[in-house]
Amino acid sequence: MPAFESGSSRLLVIASVFFLSVLAIQCNTQTENAQEGQTENEGPTKAIEDVPELADAMGQLQTYLHKYALALEAENHELATFYFHEVRASADGIKENIPGYEGYDIARFMRLFFDPVVEPVEESLANRNWKETRARTIELVDACNTCHSATNHGFVQVTPGFSKNPFNQDFSPRE
Ligand code: HEC
Repeated sequence: MPAFESGSSRLLVIASVFFLSVLAIQCNTQTENAQEGQTENEGPTKAIEDVPELADAMGQLQTYLHKYALALEAENHELATFYFHEVRASADGIKENIPGYEGYDIARFMRLFFDPVVEPVEESLANRNWKETRARTIELVDACNTCHSATNHGFVQVTPGFSKNPFNQDFSPRE
């Protein structure tokens, strides 16, 4: 039965080609998967990066605080009010976006140490009571450092930074 035989060998060839292409496709998908695996590996890393770093947020808080202090010292009401608003917004952002960090209840610590010293500054600033605002700002900076100690970061000691302008910015009021 040569016809059957040749038929079956043709079938065999077809089957082998089919098998090989399935194998090839599979190899391809495996390489793709491996590549995807890499991007998947990047996934979690990226997700971690997407969680804001507390140190970055603190750095922003520090910058705004310092600019606020310089504007306050220059008795520039408009600018000091603007930067203090940013200080407050940064602190609120930390509470909302980084409520926990390294096992510390950051949101609770912020409410405990930071919140009580914010209003007094806002109040005296609104009244343009420069002397009082300056004193309350020092209290606020003390609160920053108290929280650093409470969260095992007492080595980060911030200061108001009055009369230390490292910025390429003039803080004096407009004429
Ligand atoms: C919830 C308590 C808490 C309060 C309130 C707080 N901090 Fe922090 N701060 C931390 C912790 C915790 C770290 C360490 C973050 C880390 O390990 O990434 C930190 C780190 C920092 C750093 C180091 C990061 C950097 O960019 O150099 C600075 C500066 C800083 N804080 C400034 C401030 C200032 C200014 C204030 C007040 C306006 C303040 N912090 C209020 C808890 C606090």
